[in-house]
Amino acid sequence: MRKKIVAGNWKMNKNLTETGVLLSNLKINLENVSETEVIVAPTYTNLYYAFEELKETQIKVAAQNMHQAENGAYTGEISVDMLKSVGVETVILGHSERRAYFGETDQLLANKVNTALQHKMTIIFCFGEELQDRKSNTHFSVVEQQLKNGLFHINRADWKNVILAYEPVWAIGTGETASPEQAQEMHAFIRKTLANTYDQETADEVSILYGGSVKPNNAQEIFAKADVDGGLIGGASLDAENFTAIVNAI
Ligand code: 13P
Repeated sequence: MRKKIVAGNWKMNKNLTETGVLLSNLKINLENVSETEVIVAPTYTNLYYAFEELKETQIKVAAQNMHQAENGAYTGEISVDMLKSVGVETVILGHSERRAYFGETDQLLANKVNTALQHKMTIIFCFGEELQDRKSNTHFSVVEQQLKNGLFHINRADWKNVILAYEPVWAIGTGETASPEQAQEMHAFIRKTLANTYDQETADEVSILYGGSVKPNNAQEIFAKADVDGGLIGGASLDAENFTAIVNAI
């Protein structure tokens, strides 16, 4: 059975004090969540603190990005070894904001994927079409290309360390969410593509999260869809009550 997962991507929000407040509230609210895997992704400077705060809990800590090189002269960058040395075992790669604002290409992401997997990190791999792709009815092929170019070179065995996050760009931070039917249609397509590229068992085991304006009032109907295994939450993950309500909506 594939895992149900709710992950909070805090993006460039929450300083150290604010991180402390949010973590303490989540610790209280989510003490008894056992079946759903809960992940939070604070900014780099607060990762170690978050790891220390959460290490006795079931909540995992993820980084929002990492560099593809092992180490070296890459001013301002963070390596996989640095993440692992502060207890972080999960990394978000390919977020549309990284693709759009920081020029991350499928090829670069393929390299990051390789480095992360070599170090046995779990990857939350993000992808999704833009509004113009959906309007021109190319959203399935755009998503398929992103997966083929950035991820589908990995071995079958590596899929146990991969979580997929379908995030249509037009739904991120806009308040406009994909309908549960649109999410299900795309998730089923992704699973079928995985089955065709690898095999049915691999496809059935991979958790596919939906991301894009998931809120307490729409989470339940999105999560109820057969191929939606949880969510990657932006704005609503910054508030303990909202995030808790979304976790409990699974
Ligand atoms: P919002 O939930 O704010 O739309 O963000 C989604 C997202 O980008 C999560 O990675």
